[in-house]
Amino acid sequence: MNFEDEVRRRRTFAIISHPDAGKTTLTEKLLLYAKAIHLAGSVKAKRAARSTISDWMKIEQERGISVTSSVLQFNYDGRALNLLDTPGHADFSEDTFRTLAAVDSAVMLMDHAKGVEPRTLKLFEVCRMRRLPVVTFMNKLDRYGLHPLELVDQVRDKLDLEVAPVNWPLGMGTDFKGLVNLATREIILYESEGRHGSEIVEAERASFDEAESLVGAEAFERISEELELIEDAGDAFSRERFLAGDVSPLFWGSAMSNFGVEELLSFLAKEAAPPGPRITEAGEEIKPNEDRFTGFVFKIQANMNPRHRDGIAFMRVVSGKFERGMDAVIGRSKEVLRLSKPHTFMAQERSLVEKAWPGDIVGLYNTGKLRVGDTLSNGSGIKFAGIPRFAPEHFGQLRLEDPMRRKALDNGLEQLSQEGVIQLFFTPGQGRQNPFLGAVGILQFEVLKERLRNEYKISVIFQKASFSRARWVGGEPEGLEWLRATHGYRVVEDRNGLPVVLTDSNWNLSYALENAPGLELYDVEPL
Ligand code: G4P
Repeated sequence: MNFEDEVRRRRTFAIISHPDAGKTTLTEKLLLYAKAIHLAGSVKAKRAARSTISDWMKIEQERGISVTSSVLQFNYDGRALNLLDTPGHADFSEDTFRTLAAVDSAVMLMDHAKGVEPRTLKLFEVCRMRRLPVVTFMNKLDRYGLHPLELVDQVRDKLDLEVAPVNWPLGMGTDFKGLVNLATREIILYESEGRHGSEIVEAERASFDEAESLVGAEAFERISEELELIEDAGDAFSRERFLAGDVSPLFWGSAMSNFGVEELLSFLAKEAAPPGPRITEAGEEIKPNEDRFTGFVFKIQANMNPRHRDGIAFMRVVSGKFERGMDAVIGRSKEVLRLSKPHTFMAQERSLVEKAWPGDIVGLYNTGKLRVGDTLSNGSGIKFAGIPRFAPEHFGQLRLEDPMRRKALDNGLEQLSQEGVIQLFFTPGQGRQNPFLGAVGILQFEVLKERLRNEYKISVIFQKASFSRARWVGGEPEGLEWLRATHGYRVVEDRNGLPVVLTDSNWNLSYALENAPGLELYDVEPL
């Protein structure tokens, strides 16, 4: 296969969802249908086994969760799919957001009994910012949920996103009969005996004429009306609009009983976005099929062994061909790095990789030279526009158990913040002393404490701060002055010396915007 074909057949995507919507289940079923695993149940089992054997982080063991996200690569229908998993626990972190910088499409998974939940909304906002194409999957149809039309309205209203249903459910819960393909009007029959779907189920099909006998006259009439309504509403699917992030194709199913998964998988393989270009800091667009190799680091997984400060840097290949053992320049430091032990990932098994193409994720052995956001390239050492940081929602400060360790703490915090574990905010005039820590997810503080203890031998006491909102400050200087002078707002500086306001409510943010002259506030770091 030539280079262009390799690029064209790649699909790099992530699943975004609120906890418990079924992300783990769906991931596993996608792997099952892609024949990458033979029996569902193994991902979870493996995850559990892994966290007791090799996960270095004690909190992972204590809580039985996997804090770090993983990458799964598998083939389907001639396409190479890279699925970037985001942390599966109830908490989440900046890693989750950053993962979305490395994909070309996202699957937005929802529990159809819950609809758009807070985490769905947040993650979707990041997708929108990146103009990522989003495929929607409504899960758990084997249970009762909201009315399908209500769900469509929710997505339109809460996310301001057009949806184009690809299929439509015939009933739900114990009355769930199957899905109608809206283009062909073919019905895929739901196998209610479908157990808990550890193996592939060959779905039976029927024509639309049979729908009435399946669901009964009354339900048939209702569904026919629904179908008419959605066809009239006319958010028709077009690939261009989907790829531009303007319309989201909508699928329904039950991941647990394997239903509707194949339709989703085959859509992803066929229609999801192929690897896209990336923009450099200098404004140059680097296309995937350029000769020169480029990539960027979107995530760093800390060491498995607490005695070493090495770890794995996850790099997304942007252009050119990656080959094991090649030399690459780090754009930030201009250091040359030999990429000698690259890994790819299959169902969380790591294996050495010889070659990788745009869209692929490669795990690089990191001795501390790489940071999140770094660009690697052969040649002159370009830099891609950075991965922005997102406004944290949890804040605190650290108190040292042994005050003599202040220097070591400053050092540790600096390194861990560069790695992206935590954000630091400094009080103007106080140098790097006693910064505020900010995190998108509360668990990040525990990760920080644990790593300070294990890797830097520093014990700290975490003190929660009362802030719950942070915004980068822009606009007129008078706006900033207003914030400095007004009770209820604390102005600090981020890693680059940019002003950030900390406060404790959305109300305060709106009040500032209304009253501070010329003030602008951003919830993403200006780059
Ligand atoms: P997450 O990664 O998004 O957090 O969700 P996960 O897949 O772990 O699923 C959350 C719960 O929802 C699990 O139940 C899972 O079995 C269930 N689930 C997933 N898909 C479906 C579906 O299509 N239909 C129904 N009815 N349930 C579904 P649990 O009781 O928390 O765990 P388990 O005991 O099943 O492992």
